[in-house]
Amino acid sequence: MIQNTYVMIKPDAVARGLIGRIVGRVEAVGLTIERMELSMVTAEQAAANYAEHEGKGFYAGLVEYITSGPVVKLQISGEEAVPVMRKLMGATNPKDAAPGTIRGDFGLSLDANIIHGSDSPESAVRELAIFFG
Ligand code: RTP
Ligand code: MG
Repeated sequence: MIQNTYVMIKPDAVARGLIGRIVGRVEAVGLTIERMELSMVTAEQAAANYAEHEGKGFYAGLVEYITSGPVVKLQISGEEAVPVMRKLMGATNPKDAAPGTIRGDFGLSLDANIIHGSDSPESAVRELAIFFG
């Protein structure tokens, strides 16, 4: 089934000059870039996107990090785009992410893990509304 998903290249990856290589991997598996925008994450967007983590020990650091510099916000579509993107990204912690995945190849730490991707079609609808209105 054709799905849409929300993907975000996080501040550390933008700062390290990895945008082109990451977008290249998305294109290489045949997914379509529907929207792409370099901009800051607002405090409101961060709070809405990470509402599920509010109250956890890492929440404040997560919000501070995601708002610390420009990100690339992407709407990506294609066959099974949600799970395909999650597979391309690899495990949340780069230490556990397989070689060949974006986090496995570029990730530095659990915080600086390069990329975000919606974890379900329902999350994708919610997150696309948060970041693209
Ligand atoms: P994301 O939302 O960024 O695509 O990552 P994910 O689904 O693989 O992981 P999730 O559980 O949604 O966590 C969101 C982000 O929070 C940071 N995190 N830190 N210190 C910790 O225990 C911890 N756990 C998660 C990660 O940067 C993760 O990407
Ligand atoms: Mg998540």
